[in-house]
Amino acid sequence: MRILDFTLFITAVACIWGVSLQGDAQRRLYRDLMANYNPLVRPVFNDSHSLTVNFSFSLMQIMDVDEKNQVLTTNIWLQLYWYDYYLQWNVSDYPGVTSVRFPDSQIWKPDILLYNSADERFDATFHTNVLVSSSGACQYMPPGIFKSTCYIDVRWFPFDVQRCDLKFGSWTYGGWSLDLQMIEADITGYIANGEWDLVEVPGRRNERFYDCCKEPYPDVTFTVVMRRRTLYYGLNLLIPCVLISTLALLVFLLPADSGEKISLGITVLLSLTVFMLLVAEIMPATSDSVPLIAQYFATTMVIVGLSVIATVWVLQYHYHDPDGGKMPTWTRVVLLNWCAWFLRMKRPGEDRVRSACHNKQPRGSLSSVDFNVSTGAPQSTNGNMLYIGFRGMDSIHYATSPDSGVICSRLMGAGEEDALLPGAPASTVSSGDTELSKILDEVRYIAKRFRDQDEEESLCNEWKFAASVIDRLCLMAFSLFTILCTIGILMSAPNFVEAISKDFFT
Ligand SMILES: *[C@@H]1O[C@H](CO)[C@@H](O)[C@H](O)[C@H]1NC(C)=O
Ligand SMILES: *[C@@H]1O[C@H](CO)[C@@H](O)[C@H](O)[C@H]1NC(C)=O
Ligand SMILES: *[C@@H]1O[C@H](CO)[C@@H](O)[C@H](O)[C@H]1NC(C)=O
Repeated sequence: MRILDFTLFITAVACIWGVSLQGDAQRRLYRDLMANYNPLVRPVFNDSHSLTVNFSFSLMQIMDVDEKNQVLTTNIWLQLYWYDYYLQWNVSDYPGVTSVRFPDSQIWKPDILLYNSADERFDATFHTNVLVSSSGACQYMPPGIFKSTCYIDVRWFPFDVQRCDLKFGSWTYGGWSLDLQMIEADITGYIANGEWDLVEVPGRRNERFYDCCKEPYPDVTFTVVMRRRTLYYGLNLLIPCVLISTLALLVFLLPADSGEKISLGITVLLSLTVFMLLVAEIMPATSDSVPLIAQYFATTMVIVGLSVIATVWVLQYHYHDPDGGKMPTWTRVVLLNWCAWFLRMKRPGEDRVRSACHNKQPRGSLSSVDFNVSTGAPQSTNGNMLYIGFRGMDSIHYATSPDSGVICSRLMGAGEEDALLPGAPASTVSSGDTELSKILDEVRYIAKRFRDQDEEESLCNEWKFAASVIDRLCLMAFSLFTILCTIGILMSAPNFVEAISKDFFT
């Protein structure tokens, strides 16, 4: 028990002695160093000598790139090294004290500031202690969240590479009193950013001369080079836009009778506008250059707008009033002959007409209608006449289909009247048979109605066919245009291939 007490006492004494010895040397050193120290004095042996300050920084993080306000926010630790002539001591005089720390206000330190600062307090650093070693070497490492102005060029957004300068220099000292030297930036502690890839941080030392004096004003400028990662914008803006512009092409595939052509076009246009607003929200309101993506969106909108116009044209053709007259000759030639040939489109029923024209010999379809109506009945009733009418129609139908017959005869330039109703009624029908001539009149009337109807229908079909030719033509042209624009505009970005290969396929 007693032995334990004694040893405890001894260790306590030793501890106190040792601590007080160390503390004593430090206290003496601080007192000796500060005895004649003036923090305003530039610490050089000869006042006409310049003081060399080595400057560097560690980039810890890119926190934000504000395209709209053109501000870059970074987390940086500055590193400043210099020799303070008045802060040197002989280590053997102060045993155990190899380095001391001073609050930054107690000793002289260079007034290095970020020139292109956009911070509210301008100097955004946290003022840490200065570490001084016995040789007088001072090490000052203030960390800070720096906001710097940076011209962000959004010309190639979202395939852009931004270069932001960070210019550091002494605010009041010239090059003759404070010689700022650069050490390469340190990015070993860099924390990766989701939106930006850090490419490199080259630095350079500049000397600037002002009108007032011959003294150079040195500064150190680091350039943060970063590449935007495209995956996010690719997924959220580009792919939807490509899809929407593809949808716009469907307008030309949609049948005109569905009545949805225009609404599809307008819907596509509106959804594009929504995406364009999204882009406009990110981009600065600059007129210096049009961002790549805005160019692409604008082009797509023009395409979709044009396709709506083309659709209106198509619909106008499709629903053309048959009483509005025939198709102008040049339209017929261009659309129905050249374009249809070029697009390899066949008029509906064209094959049928061809074959019908081929075996056309038994033309007298109506003449071969067998009028085996029992002539015994003196007055043919309405029912009878109707019956004949249907019979006649049936036989026409069986012989050659009515519309092809009409079209064919028109194509052949045959006189329809003669072909359909051969012979004047007087010649074939006996003069006494008034019943039969009445029936023939009715038949003639029905035939005329059918003929008119067929003619009208074929006119309508012609317009409809023209509309479908325009539709197909637009589909081709707009597809080509869309593909060319997509490839041409997006691939014009200088680092398109690099961005795609790095962001999409890794
Ligand atoms: C200081 O340096 C200048 C030039 O380098 C020299 O002319 C001058 O004698 C020096 N003064 C002292 C006190 O050493
Ligand atoms: C500054 O850097 C130079 C060269 O790297 C070196 O010789 C010098 O000792 C450094 N000065 C200080 C104060 O660290
Ligand atoms: C440091 O002090 C010791 C003894 O006081 C002396 O021998 C030595 O030369 C001194 N060193 C310097 C660099 O002044």
